[in-house]
Amino acid sequence: MTKLLHIDSSILGDHSAGRALAAEVIAHFKAKEAALEVTYRDVVAQPLPHLDFELFSQQGKDIPADAPRREDHLESAQVLAEFEAADIIVVASPLYNFGVPSQLKAWIDRFMVAGRTFRYVPTGIEGLVGQKKIVLVGTRGGIYEAGTPAAAFEHDVSYLKAVFASLGQQDVTAIIAEGLSLRVYRAMVVRTVRRSWPQQKKRLQRFNLSFFVKTIGVFVPRWLSVTLVSANRRQRVYFIKP
Ligand SMILES: Cc1cc2nc3c(=O)[nH]c(=O)nc-3n(C[C@H](O)[C@H](O)[C@H](O)COP(=O)(O)O)c2cc1C
Repeated sequence: MTKLLHIDSSILGDHSAGRALAAEVIAHFKAKEAALEVTYRDVVAQPLPHLDFELFSQQGKDIPADAPRREDHLESAQVLAEFEAADIIVVASPLYNFGVPSQLKAWIDRFMVAGRTFRYVPTGIEGLVGQKKIVLVGTRGGIYEAGTPAAAFEHDVSYLKAVFASLGQQDVTAIIAEGLSLRVYRAMVVRTVRRSWPQQKKRLQRFNLSFFVKTIGVFVPRWLSVTLVSANRRQRVYFIKP
């Protein structure tokens, strides 16, 4: 049975575009495999304490019954176990102050464990967790697309890609919705469809929706399309497959 780990990290609750997008991604995977085992972790609703020396020094180790802060250690172990067990990982990450939410960083700090999920080798580091399918959902108020003035300020999806690349992950897809704060009003409808990209493009043109969809690279998932319904011409949604 395939195991999927779903991580949400937006502080905007029901108003979060990323949460809605990630839910559609999960629905897609569930539609493909009814028996899919989904583990959900909302790092805002259940924040992990920041990594400190005490937690760091016990990572990946057995926790004695009388260990101080045993609950925190057990939670660390749980995060690590969820990460290792997952075949598919879907991470929704909004851009906050040019980076990932600190709650999400706390989650990353729990599974990047030397000697367990990666090891140091003469050429750098090497992943120890095998291959997984990684889907990153990045949401941003502004526009950070490559070639735009703010591109160098984007450290959310690019950072997450670096994290997963360092673990040797090769199947990483990023779905980006940006320009989301460029209008006060926005409405978002996310739909999962089974259409090829040319079919999908035709459909979008037919509806003449006022947004701009751009694809980067050669890959566009056949299974996912995102429709932003808004009067904002500057909103952009695009897919990246490195
Ligand atoms: C605390 C905070 C910091 C933010 N920082 C940025 C930023 O640096 N750049 C940006 O483009 N948008 C920024 N935004 C806007 C969010 O990226 C935008 O609201 C996005 O839609 C959030 O994703 P979500 O809808 O999934 O929550 C920030 C929003 C918040 C709440």
